[in-house]
Amino acid sequence: MRKVMLTGDRPTGKLHVGHYVGSLRRRVELQNTGDFDDIFIMIADAQALTDNADNPEKVRQNIIEVALDYLACGLDPKKSTLFIQSQIPQLCELSFYYMNLVTVSRLQRNPTVKAEIQMRNFEASIPVGFFTYPISQAADITAFKATTVPVGEDQMPMLEQTREIVHKFNSVYGETLVDPKILLPENQACMRLPGIDGKAKMSKSLNNCIYLSEEPEEIKKKVFSMFTDPTHIRIEDPGKLEGNTVFTYLDAFCRPEYFPEFLPEYKDLDELKEHYQRGGLGDMKVKRFLNNVLQAELEPIRNRRKEFQKDIPAVYEMLREGSEKAEAVAAETLKDVKAAMKINYFDDEELIKGQSKKFSD
Ligand code: TRP
Repeated sequence: MRKVMLTGDRPTGKLHVGHYVGSLRRRVELQNTGDFDDIFIMIADAQALTDNADNPEKVRQNIIEVALDYLACGLDPKKSTLFIQSQIPQLCELSFYYMNLVTVSRLQRNPTVKAEIQMRNFEASIPVGFFTYPISQAADITAFKATTVPVGEDQMPMLEQTREIVHKFNSVYGETLVDPKILLPENQACMRLPGIDGKAKMSKSLNNCIYLSEEPEEIKKKVFSMFTDPTHIRIEDPGKLEGNTVFTYLDAFCRPEYFPEFLPEYKDLDELKEHYQRGGLGDMKVKRFLNNVLQAELEPIRNRRKEFQKDIPAVYEMLREGSEKAEAVAAETLKDVKAAMKINYFDDEELIKGQSKKFSD
């Protein structure tokens, strides 16, 4: 069977280090293994509009920011198709037909949508488009016959919903759609990278993100203001690792080679953690190390971004070509779907013959 990867992001802001360890880094690695027959990376502007309908300019402005972040991280248009969701009309058609296979109460049970409704104060009046976005996400995934969807844990309910739609569709209309698998981040720290304030979610409005395009001085300021263990007051005090943002970030970003380079007195992260827990290791020293690690990780990304920023028309052109290619693939799937659903009247000679016969008898 063909191996196809698909994933995407809503263009509501620049991408941050949470996006990076949660999915972007993995996508680039997978891209470069050469294991996939096709890779689709989608800028989900139509989904972003489901809760930003009154702010299209925000979505419009952030398309290029997300595209630049993608390229900066190493997504390569020669190996992956980068495209914009709204440019693929077939996704709307697929969503419309999938809606018949999903109940309102099933959508109401989606925990991610539930949490988002609360966060956006939508309880009293949920836009229908927002409420049904898990269905449109199923269209995104199935349109490209994706087998692998690398996303964060919060997307698990969307994948479950998609699989239900696939199973239902195939059982009602015959084997047509491909069952996708979710690919979650490799460790807990990457799964849910907290904001620099230790809060569970990184968000622009909380002002607790480190962006991929952040300048070195800003990164340093943010690292030094990070939440650690509030009971670890003097250097001699034993320190806690749970909920300690600096150590969570080290779990997500540290590579073995950073110890000889930046902190040669420790063998590895385990030894550093042990010392911290025992007492005698100050927060400043750990933060200095984390700053070095983050600077080393983000510098090449920032530099590559600046290169791509020099030719913005070329980035739009790349997205246009990607969108064209994506549309052709989605059109093939839509054709299969319409045939399976028996709404392919004009290219079904048997139908026309049969009807002729019925009326001539
Ligand atoms: N819901 C995803 C997010 O909020 C974005 C997205 C839209 C997506 N369609 C998708 C992710 C399809 C994976 C597959 O980030």
